[in-house]
Amino acid sequence: MTAAQPRPHVPVLVDEVVAALAVVPGETHVDGTFGAGGYSKAILEKGAARVFAFDRDPEAIEAGQALVASSGGRLTLVPERFSRMRQALSARGVERVDGVALDIGVSSMQLDRPERGFSFQADGPLDMRMGPDGESATDFVNNAPEAEIADVLYHYGEERQARRIARAIVAARPIARTGELAAIVRRAAGYHPGMKKDPATRTFQAIRIHVNDELNELEGGLAAAEQVLAPGGRLAVVTFHSLEDRIVKRFLKERAGARPARSRHLPAANEDGPAPTFEAVARPVTPSAAELAANPRARSATLRSARRTAAAPVPRFGEGSYR
Ligand SMILES: C[S@@+](CC[C@H](N)C(=O)[O-])C[C@H]1O[C@@H](n2cnc3c(N)ncnc32)[C@H](O)[C@@H]1O
Repeated sequence: MTAAQPRPHVPVLVDEVVAALAVVPGETHVDGTFGAGGYSKAILEKGAARVFAFDRDPEAIEAGQALVASSGGRLTLVPERFSRMRQALSARGVERVDGVALDIGVSSMQLDRPERGFSFQADGPLDMRMGPDGESATDFVNNAPEAEIADVLYHYGEERQARRIARAIVAARPIARTGELAAIVRRAAGYHPGMKKDPATRTFQAIRIHVNDELNELEGGLAAAEQVLAPGGRLAVVTFHSLEDRIVKRFLKERAGARPARSRHLPAANEDGPAPTFEAVARPVTPSAAELAANPRARSATLRSARRTAAAPVPRFGEGSYR
């Protein structure tokens, strides 16, 4: 029997993202998460003169060469993390762009191929890295102290049984396969068929976020977008869970100038913070019922978007860690 072909990645909220980018023919845009190229293709179809598309996964870059060839020189693929977009664009002679799109998370090509080690449903080597370098999930579960594993599961998976699961992982070392890890987690969390959510979902999400440093990447990507967007440029970010959405929401709130409510009992503070770098922050957009019916992976997607002002970028956002 031959293995089933992975389903092609169906772009999520693509019409809404392109509307938020408001592409004007002749402009230059960044697709920070190329994946299967759904967003890049849509941006090119709107008449963008240049699209710089980033992906940290060499397999995505390789698979995108056909789109590059058919783009008439308008699409450039950049095998780089989006947090480094300023440096990568600068190295290509580009200092300012008109739009930045980010579609955070993993693609169907990554999730559905057991050999990439993301899936708790199909057995494969425990890897979960989007790119070729860094610590793999195998390295992490076999070497990290129990307390660190519990911390990762609690913070990145919002797993209430983090300690119990971490203890079970450490007791079962060495672990080499996704199937083994899923079974350990289910046993520790008391999984039974018919349960609403497989507890392996949360553990796998947490380890994936940790291994790929995804929240710090998102934070770095937002700051990089602020640096490369021209005045009037548009930012559109799609996220897939509350940890990520919270970061985007907080970033735009801060950058659009909202100050935390102050107590009237405190002395008047100096209100001269940095000038807002974003404006016209749109209400969050979620997929339509029709999109959800056609693509279950669109579930829990949220798009947030805003327009860049002419103010200088803020040097540093946040503390650099969400743990
Ligand atoms: C959800 S998919 C994007 C799908 C794409 N919008 C499409 O329509 O096909 C996310 C992609 O972004 C890549 N990615 C995730 N984090 C990244 C980062 N920090 N830098 C560059 N690429 C990243 C992943 O490797 C994956 O291919």
